[in-house]
Amino acid sequence: MDGTHTDGRQLESMSVAFKAPDARIGRGVATTVGDVLERAGVTDPLVVTDEGIEAAGLLGPIVDAIDADATVHYATTEPAVADFENLPTETVDGVVAIGGGSCMDTAKVVATLLAHGGDAADYLGVDAVPGPVASLIAIPTTSGTGSQATQTAVVSHDGVKRGISDEHLRPDYALVDPSLTSDLPSAQTARSGFDAFVHALESLTARDYRWVESRPITYQGANPASRALAREALLQVHDSLERATFDGDDRDAREAMSVGSHLAGTAFSISGLGIVHAIASTLGGLTNDPHGACLAASIEAGLTYNLPVRRAEYADVARTLEVVDAGASDREAATALIAECGRLRTSLNLPTGMAALGLGPEDVDTIVENTLIQERRLPTNPRAAGEDLGEHLLEIEFDG
Ligand SMILES: [Fe+2]
Repeated sequence: MDGTHTDGRQLESMSVAFKAPDARIGRGVATTVGDVLERAGVTDPLVVTDEGIEAAGLLGPIVDAIDADATVHYATTEPAVADFENLPTETVDGVVAIGGGSCMDTAKVVATLLAHGGDAADYLGVDAVPGPVASLIAIPTTSGTGSQATQTAVVSHDGVKRGISDEHLRPDYALVDPSLTSDLPSAQTARSGFDAFVHALESLTARDYRWVESRPITYQGANPASRALAREALLQVHDSLERATFDGDDRDAREAMSVGSHLAGTAFSISGLGIVHAIASTLGGLTNDPHGACLAASIEAGLTYNLPVRRAEYADVARTLEVVDAGASDREAATALIAECGRLRTSLNLPTGMAALGLGPEDVDTIVENTLIQERRLPTNPRAAGEDLGEHLLEIEFDG
């Protein structure tokens, strides 16, 4: 493969590492957790979940399937460093996460503290975990974050959302069971599913791995392995998200969302994401709106910003999703993809732009400033982001 810039400069980043947790995907696999724990040699697991999961009746059958005395720890939504101070860890030798992104993020930090002690704040940043963590089995109850497949956890520290990113955090095993999502309310299905949609889309169209010089965490840029996963994830999610949102009992749709969100998480954990996630994180910090809502508000601005360097790729995606006629030009097809993302967010009752989150042109400078410092997302965005983002946001979002 060609690993040279047009100026002839050779990159060193021509290799690709492929990492993914072992996984079982399908109806009922959550109740095989006892078998998985036994194979991992875990005899005293700590179950990390939240009260909503217990109230929904999802916890009992899984805990019953654990052939050992499990201790239960309730995670807080969007955990903070201080939430890890009084863990029941004396005899615990492994962690089972049952829940959404916050539960899985909490479990990753707990597994780190079990192995290495100290304080959650000690591990903030990239590659600060000194070695393997306690055995970690992740059982997602939403089809969204894909955290069961990734190497990062988000925790708040001094009121700011920070990441703990380290290959050691990737769960040993993921049990992806669509039956756990069948009672997920419509609005949560839409928000978490839109997150999975953007994971797949941004992973698929991320900067090519041969052009990613600084590799944040293990984000390597889009490559043959991540693209195959992301493309399939995008097809599954695009085909099923509205059906799962508007008919929670549609088993086929729920299954496709489970598969799609898991593959999307695996894909982006290898490739990295891009500016849609960077802007959305900024909006989340400013407005406290949920991640999926912020992504919906950011997607048009992000994709149109990248359009000058991603026209052919977006056109290819539009054709893959069959949202454009076969004879359309690349220009028409790329525009059709952006229109389809707009249609999808409207159909799902998600915010249709930044104004829908209560933001105005006076917020643009702050949005740009907070977005351009996001080192986890921008190195794998296909276009180098700069100050011209402000003008772009004014034009796309605020008719500037
Ligand atoms: Fe996301």
